[in-house]
Parts: sequence; structure tokens; C-alpha cells
Amino acid sequence: MQTLVGNSIDTATHWLNAGELVAVPTETVYGLAGNAANEKAIIKIFETKKRPSFNPLILHTHAIEKINDFAELDPTSLRLAEAFMPGPFTLLLPKKNNVSDLITAGSNKVAVRIPNHDLLLGLLRESNLALVAPSANMFGYVSPTSTAHVLKGMSGKIPYILDGGDCSVGLESTIAEVISENEILIHRTGGITANDIKAILPNAHVERYSSANIKTSGQLKSHYATNTPLYMVTNVAEAVALLKGAYAAFMLFDRELPEVDKSQQFLLSPNGDINEAAARLFATMQKIDAAGFERIITIKFPNEGIGAAINDRLERAQHLHK
Ligand code: TXA
Ligand code: MG
Repeated sequence: MQTLVGNSIDTATHWLNAGELVAVPTETVYGLAGNAANEKAIIKIFETKKRPSFNPLILHTHAIEKINDFAELDPTSLRLAEAFMPGPFTLLLPKKNNVSDLITAGSNKVAVRIPNHDLLLGLLRESNLALVAPSANMFGYVSPTSTAHVLKGMSGKIPYILDGGDCSVGLESTIAEVISENEILIHRTGGITANDIKAILPNAHVERYSSANIKTSGQLKSHYATNTPLYMVTNVAEAVALLKGAYAAFMLFDRELPEVDKSQQFLLSPNGDINEAAARLFATMQKIDAAGFERIITIKFPNEGIGAAINDRLERAQHLHK
């Protein structure tokens, strides 16, 4: 199958209605989308990504009213939806019967998201389809933030990539679940932080899902991994100690290390902007991965805002190689 890249909503709609998969842009990462109402398309997503079928998919739609077609929106979830959608925010909600068990992997909850990307919102609106879409990478590898990344994993496997440019947020959406009016569980960290949620619900207790109880693939210990072994350390001395003569790439926040050659250093944001660092993270990991280094060494990022999500992804990216 030949994979074309373009920005036609009509072409994307054509393939989705034919039960094929289309890679779609979002503000977080590119998604591998299929028609949520077509079980054959859903199965194709799992096969194409080599993703285990016990890993549920996020359903994407274009408006809060539309969420009611698929899930029960309690008043607290609705408040969060109104505050953060469209945006890098996914809600786990009790599913309605028309949502296939293949999407939720048998769970009675469905993950729903309204992406903040004009071209994808246009596709969702004009096609009148709900789309299920995991990140458009092979299972376990770094998520794609550009059409070039999508092509690396998906070329020849899908007919069309809808080109919406580079992803502006660069990390997958925050996944949250309202347990009760005052209790919110964050299943996956992302662009919307616990503090953002507390600003909307000042009385709520916002908690990170414990890794002792892993359910979501993004929460698997080994994920988002480069082929080159990646190590995350907490300070410069540890980073230099890890070198031991290896030809290493250093992926750093905003400052170079004077003791290391410039050609081995990759700064994610020379201006110290944590959001810019997040937007560049996956692209930089893929660039370094293709450049022939023996290892990747990174120093823990500031844990503020989206920085917590950066550290979360890097923690998992290194686990394979420990
Ligand atoms: O930003 C994003 O969310 C991107 C873009 C493409 O929208 N999508 C994404 O999908 O990251 P994926 O499949 O790579 O990660 C979705 C996560 C998985 O870890 C999955 O296990 C979890 O959401 N998830 C989906 N439905 C769930 C459910 N019913 N219960 C628990 N976890 C769920
Ligand atoms: Mg993923």
C-alpha cells in the first residue's frame, strides 16, 4: 500500500469511511485513526501498531455535546471538559452501549478527548465520524510529532497521513478520571497539570494513579523507548560519570555542559521554556536515535508544569535498558 501525505479532509474521510486507517495531527502527538463505529478498523489499529489488544483506545470527537453520544458526563467531568476541551486532556467516563468493547478492552469506561487542532476538528466535524486513535508509532517506540516520524513507522501500512504540521504540545494528553465530586485521579500526566485541575475544582483532591496498579499502556514501565539505551540522571556529575568512554548524546534542558563536546549536546530549550522543551522532546529523541550514538544521557527536567510529564516519559523510556 502506498502512503500519501496531504491536507485533504475529503481524502481522509474517504479512507476512514472505507474502513482504512489515517494518521491524523493533534496538538499532542500524531494519532493512528480509525472509525470508532467500525470494529474491523479498530482491529486494524491494534494489528498495524502491534499493540496488545488489552490496551484501550481514546475516542476523539469535536464537541462536548457529542461526548454524550458515547459516555455519561457527570457534572464534575463536565466542568473539567468545559475548562480543558478542546485541549491536551482526556476524560475517562462510563461508556454507553454503542461503544465497542474493542475500544475499551472490555472496561465499562471509555477515554474521550477533543483535540485542539483545527484540521482534525474539521475532519471530525465534516466526516461526522468519531475516531479512535492511539499515537501513530509502533507499540513501545517514541510517539510521532511530525509526518516524517509517522512515515518512519507507518509507511506502506496506511493509505494516508493528514498533514497538520508539527505538534505544538508534543506530549500525549493528560488522562483524568472523576472518582467523586472531590476526588480526581490522573492516569497519565500531560499538558494539563494537577494544579490546572485544582484551579477549576479548588476543593478536589487530585491524585496520581499509582504505578502499582498499571492499566494504561502509557503507564507501562517500558514505553516511549529509543533503540539507543537512554539513561536519566539527576545531576551533571552523574551524567559525566555515566560516560565511561562511550560515544554518548546528552539531551539537556537549557544549558550545555562545558566538559562535553558541542556535537554531542542537544538542548531542548536554550531559553529555559519548559513547554518548548516538551514540544521538542520526542523529535529530539528520534533524531538522536538515528545518529549513531552508543547511549543517550539526559538530566532530569524541572518538575514544574509539563516538566512532570517530560520526566514521566523519560523514566519509562529508560526502563528497558536498566
Ligand atoms: O494525546 C493523546 O492522547 C494521543 C493523541 C493521538 O490523541 N493519543 C494517545 O493514545 O496517546 P495512546 O493509545 O497512545 O494512549 C492512550 C492511553 C493508553 O495508555 C490507554 O491504555 C489509555 O489511554 N486508555 C484508553 N482508554 C482507557 C480506558 N478505558 N481505561 C483506562 N485507560 C485507557
Ligand atoms: Mg502511545
